[in-house]
Amino acid sequence: MTNIIDGKALSGEIRKELKEKISAYHKEHKSIGLAVVLVGEDPASRIYVKNKIKACEEVGIRSFSYELPATASQKQVEELVGSLAVDDSVTGILVQLPLPKGLDADKVLSLIPTRKDVDGFSAENMGKLAMNDPSAIVACTPHGVMKMLEKTGVDLTGKNAVVIGRSNIVGKPMAMLLTNANATVTLCHSRTRNLKEICAQADILVAAIGKPKFVKADMVKEGAIVIDVGMDRDENGKLCGDVDFEAVKEKTSFLTPVPGGVGPMTITMLMYNTFLAAKGE
Ligand code: GUN
Repeated sequence: MTNIIDGKALSGEIRKELKEKISAYHKEHKSIGLAVVLVGEDPASRIYVKNKIKACEEVGIRSFSYELPATASQKQVEELVGSLAVDDSVTGILVQLPLPKGLDADKVLSLIPTRKDVDGFSAENMGKLAMNDPSAIVACTPHGVMKMLEKTGVDLTGKNAVVIGRSNIVGKPMAMLLTNANATVTLCHSRTRNLKEICAQADILVAAIGKPKFVKADMVKEGAIVIDVGMDRDENGKLCGDVDFEAVKEKTSFLTPVPGGVGPMTITMLMYNTFLAAKGE
């Protein structure tokens, strides 16, 4: 019997709590403001950004939306982020990724001051996370996954955790968080040998590879917790995850759906991080 971890419901609980905390904070401090930068026309990015701005409204954070065309130059993007870096009404900066081809995202991100790095992508925040420093701002998606794992009530100590995908924004910070939570972590990627066998040993399996329905029943251990970070389209163009939900649901103890799983949690943790960054904690 599988338990579905309802990311939407958990998000709702956290957002409600946050809204109260933010309202109390605003009684004594200047307002929290998140600048959201979107470059180009990527339809998925457009939807994410719209949802992020909507979430700001919901919890009482001011948002400032900036859009540049896909033809924008590196210099234009850098000038925009540079001006937000020194703008006192902006307490957090988010540059939606990926940037259009030809733009150097690392260089753009390096212009975001650590205190405004609500995505937790800076070398300082990633370094703090690696060192298990509680003051690290943690990348939103893996941070949301940890909240979902907490919600299961399962102690991760000594468990085999397998992460598929080694991106800087999900896989790597995810592996660090699971390590910090005392799991034994294997970080797999496109060059990993025996991927199927490694996944089948996992007590906790996190899929973040961007391949529709990649994780099948033979890759899942009986009773495993499976977290699906994917946002893909199936052969009919329907939204699905990296996990073949129908195929694995009889084997898992806990499973996250797509949509309604990790996605809403990512945006909620962005709100949480924006609050932490504004407070300077
Ligand atoms: N693109 C996909 N996920 C993310 C994220 O968490 N933050 C940003 N800035 N861009 C993304």
